[in-house]
Amino acid sequence: MLAVVVGAGGGIGGACARTLAQQYDAVLCVDRDLAAARRTAAEIDRAVALAADAGEVGFGRLVGDAAAAIGPVGCAVYAVAYEEHAPAVDLSRESLLRSLLIGPVGAFEFFRGLTPAPGASYIAIGSLHETQPFANCLGYNAAHGALGQVVRTLAHEWADRGIRVNAVVPGWIATPGEEDLYGAEQLAAAGRLLPLGRHGRPEEVAAAVGFLASEAAGYISGSFLTVDGALSSSLAQLRGV
Ligand SMILES: NC(=O)c1ccc[n+]([C@@H]2O[C@H](COP(=O)([O-])OP(=O)(O)OC[C@H]3O[C@@H](n4cnc5c(N)ncnc54)[C@H](O)[C@@H]3O)[C@@H](O)[C@H]2O)c1
Repeated sequence: MLAVVVGAGGGIGGACARTLAQQYDAVLCVDRDLAAARRTAAEIDRAVALAADAGEVGFGRLVGDAAAAIGPVGCAVYAVAYEEHAPAVDLSRESLLRSLLIGPVGAFEFFRGLTPAPGASYIAIGSLHETQPFANCLGYNAAHGALGQVVRTLAHEWADRGIRVNAVVPGWIATPGEEDLYGAEQLAAAGRLLPLGRHGRPEEVAAAVGFLASEAAGYISGSFLTVDGALSSSLAQLRGV
């Protein structure tokens, strides 16, 4: 059976691909950055890299056809988002639409385009900002809010197809994407202020994905599994970050 990971060239997606490689016969590593997808695929036996941009028309069909050529999908993970930091008054329509396109729309088209194996597990990487807004990040917040409703709706609608749909909700995870946004020094300093004194690791998010993909999670659908080192329990203390 096949696992498909969108964003497999990134921090969390890459870790998910490596974790799922231990549970599935093959992994399709999808990313708009083909070189990054290939780097992840090269670390895994029986992995295939595919270039596809979640913001492009035809994304769901492109990935679905590539997956179907390999086999039925036992697990699918969507681990991409578009995040622009700007005050809401300055946010362009294009930026907001891009967040929505690469977030909930891309995830929905991805999941809908797949040919599921019996008992398939579909997992979106969500965000605490689904419910706890992050100032100067309106597009990202709105996209994750809508992604949460995609997960709940598909969990309900596709239950009779035997597909489980869940989200893993990371706290603050040290990934290449976060390092690009904040710089290594600022990121490390912020990590020391988090409840556990450090950021989460991509592998710690991937472990939750591996669990949701497993038979042990066979009755879990429509759930949001938080992996945040108590960050959501302590947000009020983090005003200085
Ligand atoms: N890192 C965190 O602290 C954190 C916290 C909460 C949620 N998340 C979520 O986890 C997911 C992955 O985050 P990350 O930190 O691993 O990011 P990352 O930047 O390390 O990796 C993202 C990957 O997605 C690819 N990508 C970006 N846009 C794409 C597109 N349009 N089509 C196809 N591929 C695309 C990039 O090339 C990259 O390889 C995102 O959805 C993010 O919202 C991350």
